[in-house]
Amino acid sequence: MAAQEDKLKDVIGHAKEYGFVFPSSEIYDGLSATYDYGQLGAELKNNIKNYWWKAMVHMHENIVGLDAAIFMHPETWKASGHVDAFNDPLIDNKDSKKRYRADVLIEEHIEKIRGKINKDVAKGLKRFGDDFNEEEFRNTNPNVLRRAGEIKKIEDRMQDALVNEKLDDLKKLIEDLEIACPLSGSKNWTDVKQFNLMFSTELGSVSGESAKIYLRPETAQGIFVNYLNVQKSGGMKIPFGIAQIGKAFRNEIVARQFIFRMREFEQMEMQFFVRPGEEMKWYEHWKDFRIRWHKALGLGDDAYRFHDHLKMAHYANAAADIEFDFPMGFKELEGIHSRTDFDLKQHEQHSGKKLKYFDPEINDSYVPYVVETSIGLDRMFLAVMSKSLKNEKLEDGSERVVMSIPPALAPYKVGILPLTKKDGLPDVARKIMDDLKVDFNCQYNEKDTIGKRYRKADAIGTPFCVTVDHQTLEDNTVTIRDRDTMAQDRVAIADLHSIIDAKVSMRKLLKAGQA
Ligand code: GAP
Repeated sequence: MAAQEDKLKDVIGHAKEYGFVFPSSEIYDGLSATYDYGQLGAELKNNIKNYWWKAMVHMHENIVGLDAAIFMHPETWKASGHVDAFNDPLIDNKDSKKRYRADVLIEEHIEKIRGKINKDVAKGLKRFGDDFNEEEFRNTNPNVLRRAGEIKKIEDRMQDALVNEKLDDLKKLIEDLEIACPLSGSKNWTDVKQFNLMFSTELGSVSGESAKIYLRPETAQGIFVNYLNVQKSGGMKIPFGIAQIGKAFRNEIVARQFIFRMREFEQMEMQFFVRPGEEMKWYEHWKDFRIRWHKALGLGDDAYRFHDHLKMAHYANAAADIEFDFPMGFKELEGIHSRTDFDLKQHEQHSGKKLKYFDPEINDSYVPYVVETSIGLDRMFLAVMSKSLKNEKLEDGSERVVMSIPPALAPYKVGILPLTKKDGLPDVARKIMDDLKVDFNCQYNEKDTIGKRYRKADAIGTPFCVTVDHQTLEDNTVTIRDRDTMAQDRVAIADLHSIIDAKVSMRKLLKAGQA
């Protein structure tokens, strides 16, 4: 647990030191759970967006993009169910006056039990060394089995209370588990109440004429309400998809773990409209496609796992999360949901407009079913940063901090470094930069020793450094240093473009997704 916290702290510190992520309005002591992306963060974010957009939109003839407004007609959110049902169960401690999410308090209690199991496993490993069989130990050790059974019972009770909205049962569970407020230490709790997560504001400034509107809590509804506009204006035939990247807002009461859970965040969502009855085929298709998209990045196949939802939201007939091995453990990165025709039917009812599609192939009209892929851009950013950041021990005993960001996503692709500021080396370096910057984001740096400049480039994840030295003046060659192997090769300036392109281009990633 401590190691996990340290890892997250490292990522947060590194993100700030090198201009990836800053606390928002920091000069005023920041605003809770709100962050600004700095000069390198904005580049990394754009590259992730670009990878997603290319893979989802440009690589699919039957998927197009959209950019809908954040504000939508307030009836949208009644139709979607967000006004009535987009709630978190909250509980207050009467002594500290602090408010908590009831399910999070219980989950933290479960984590403590898991921590005890992990301690038992660690003890076993220490005792038996190489002969230790962890799987067998977990399946047979009486203490571990008792604790695992305890977790299962708690999870079942919590699930039942949440799904069936039994708020009294949720409070009873907190009391039975003797959960205390982390601040006051007291077990003096209020009843559990539902709290809506949508932010609202007023449209129009004249008193009496204003209407309550919401900041969208998901981008998906902008796609649903436009689906016929896009279908008709684009001549789309089912099955087809609409993709969108944009901001979403949720008044999360427990917003924490850096950019993992924020109140203002970005989603990359795609709604795929299909013939009723074909949704399970497409659900499996998109699960498969999306996991390949992730794995193509090379962050490690074992960093991902699927978590199938056993109990679904009322509108879904299948749902799974792609979980990622974040510094805090495996957590949801993306959701793939088969949403049936729930949203479109609701919008038909609330708007009074027909949203049926005429399918010429079967000569029939129907409200399409929808399979959705929904990923948080900020979570993807955290996934890439946290897996890429490494402290490496080198053969000569020294250490380096390196971010092995997948080259196609790296903020800078090349560092251009004249060995000295003299003898015309900067002029040649500038010329190389002018040529390369048309295709690759380059960083020019002539300060510090060459060793320090390499370390800085490693720390921000720049895949290549090109060094211009005196030999360059004689034979038009430079050294090119690879971030990951630290190998330096002498190459002709004329070959730089193709060498760099082979490594940093998104082509390979996009082809892997196609397989
Ligand atoms: N349209 C479906 C939908 O919004 P969701 O599971 O609520 O589904 C989808 O959200 C994704 O959005 C999540 O998998 C997560 O990556 C991201 N996300 C949700 N809430 C977030 C928050 N408060 N901060 C950052 N990302 C969030």
